[in-house]
Amino acid sequence: MTGELSPIDKAKFAAAKRATAFVESGMKVGLGTGSTAAWMVRCLGERVRDEGLRIKGVPTSTRTADLAREVGIEVISLDEARWLDLTIDGADEFDADLNLIKGGGGAHLQEKIVATASDRMIVIADPAKEVAHLGAFPLPVEVIPFGWKATRTLVEEALEGMDVLGRETALRMNGEAPFVTDEGNHILDLHLKRIGNPRQLSLVLNQIPGLVENGLFIDICDVVVIGHGDGRVEIRDITAGTFDEDRVAFADNDNLFSDI
Ligand code: A5P
Repeated sequence: MTGELSPIDKAKFAAAKRATAFVESGMKVGLGTGSTAAWMVRCLGERVRDEGLRIKGVPTSTRTADLAREVGIEVISLDEARWLDLTIDGADEFDADLNLIKGGGGAHLQEKIVATASDRMIVIADPAKEVAHLGAFPLPVEVIPFGWKATRTLVEEALEGMDVLGRETALRMNGEAPFVTDEGNHILDLHLKRIGNPRQLSLVLNQIPGLVENGLFIDICDVVVIGHGDGRVEIRDITAGTFDEDRVAFADNDNLFSDI
């Protein structure tokens, strides 16, 4: 089965599987959204089933909540959990300081709330997500539908004063209609090409009325687990200043692959 997976999917799986080793019984765990995070949720479900791992999961989207329940993870809300031991999530880009762009899947609002309410955030990624400078991936910003065109104008005006290479903005679409987030909002994708000062940009964007949250995660992530298509895994912890390597085995009869 795993032979049918692309090298990128194997890399995502390797990162996701290795990251679940950080999860211990009794933990409250934030469950990210996206294709890499979906592998992580499946791997955690396997540990719940096979090892009797006892965890409570706080999902960052309805998609993840559905998957978590399907694989047997107990799902609770963030309000029930109040605080989390750990969040594991994917990213669209990460830099050397583990600052991130997220929201390619449109879930960065809940993802940022959940990650910030956690003792640690671990990002799981394939090597293509690592960048010298954030911004090649369009930066998602969530805006409320009321007056979104005025909000867009304010975003474009704000970008004039920012250290970025591109300034085009686009309303994210889902077919013929605007994309709608779990919170009932829309997404503007900012094509910035290169972000000179992510911290400043994040602060400026979040001052704009109607803009709910941007997809820059600054000083939130502690550890990145980078998977490779051959099963190699790199683990970088910027808080501890450590770098480790490991290897994940692909089991061809793994139940995880049965629905792929
Ligand atoms: C979801 O809104 C995003 O933040 C995802 O975590 C991010 O887009 C990474 O997704 P993939 O793991 O599918 O690349």
